[in-house]
Amino acid sequence: MSIQDNNSNLNITVTSALPYANGEIHIGHIVSTYLPADVFTRYSRLNGFNVIHVCATDDFGTPNLIQSEKEGKTPEEYVKYWHYRDLEDFKKLGISFDYFHQTSSKENIELTQEFFRKLLQNNHIFNKKIHQPYCENDKKFLPDRYVVGTCPICRTKDQYSDGCEKCGRTLQSGEILEPHCSICGSVPVMRESIHYFFRLSAFSEKLKKWLQTNQGLKPEIKNYVLNWIKNGLKDWDITRDIKWGVPIPLKEARGKVLYGWFDNHLCYISSAVHYLSGKGLDGKSFWNSSKIYHFIGKDIIYHHYLFLPAMRMGVEEEYKLPDFIPVRGHLMLQGKKISKSRDWYISLRDFLNGFPADYLRYYCLAITPYSQDDV
Ligand code: 2FM
Ligand code: ZN
Repeated sequence: MSIQDNNSNLNITVTSALPYANGEIHIGHIVSTYLPADVFTRYSRLNGFNVIHVCATDDFGTPNLIQSEKEGKTPEEYVKYWHYRDLEDFKKLGISFDYFHQTSSKENIELTQEFFRKLLQNNHIFNKKIHQPYCENDKKFLPDRYVVGTCPICRTKDQYSDGCEKCGRTLQSGEILEPHCSICGSVPVMRESIHYFFRLSAFSEKLKKWLQTNQGLKPEIKNYVLNWIKNGLKDWDITRDIKWGVPIPLKEARGKVLYGWFDNHLCYISSAVHYLSGKGLDGKSFWNSSKIYHFIGKDIIYHHYLFLPAMRMGVEEEYKLPDFIPVRGHLMLQGKKISKSRDWYISLRDFLNGFPADYLRYYCLAITPYSQDDV
């Protein structure tokens, strides 16, 4: 069956969550996301559907920038390395992406800026002055991982300001205790900066309705997402005062970029459309006529069940919302969650250097449940 861009009810778009371009793919990623997406793609093709499966590296964000600085590389060089490295590893495992793009690609930057402009025009984005940590020694603002300190919840030391590795809590800027600059160690001062915010809270009712009426979403996940909505959604700060990211397309915001979670999921769309237009097809009509599946791990439910649909709603659903968001849990190794940041993992490359790909494919599939339970 060949790919068509008309209103075929046989069209399916599959996306796999985008790996950060800053380290190895490990077998936890394979179990939670890539293998289920790959098997579903192959199965649907065998059943006569027109399926495209797209993915990309998640190139922006402070972790990638900090790491590139440590290695004395430009962020572009740094993410390119991981992009090709990840692609090679995925290929060796037989993951059937039709297209593997980058969030820093021209296509994704353009689409992200288009979304920003439309959301601003539709009054879903506002700006306000806030205080941000600033290092007087390095002469720069210190978003997210540029600040380390003590977790205000569990008091663990040496945690990044955007979240605690020990207790798992996400932290807002300014919440971390005893903050210091992760580059030079000095204590930051608070400095004023104008930031842009996405009015997530204004979408509460629409999101609720979408969750309640969408048959493809799993009931247990719906329930706790509905609970988050009930407890009140906060507007999202989508600005970062760094150079690595999608530039905010406004003269008065020169030097500021969009937060990685504003642009990364848009790369599902930009990659699919770019891939299909390379084949002479109308990517947007394929997207809008297809059943859409976003395969993810359970850490990123919030972003995919709230932030992603709200952004598409904010541009009048010019791009269709997902029909299914399959979620899988964590893979455990000796009773502990596999994690790159905690340095507790088996990399895909190491595994494949020792064993055939099918051993891993078979075993992972055999143990993966149709739920978000850890295995
Ligand atoms: O959590 C992560 O690993 C992110 N890089 C996932 C991004 S998925 C998306 F929405 F683009
Ligand atoms: Zn500093």
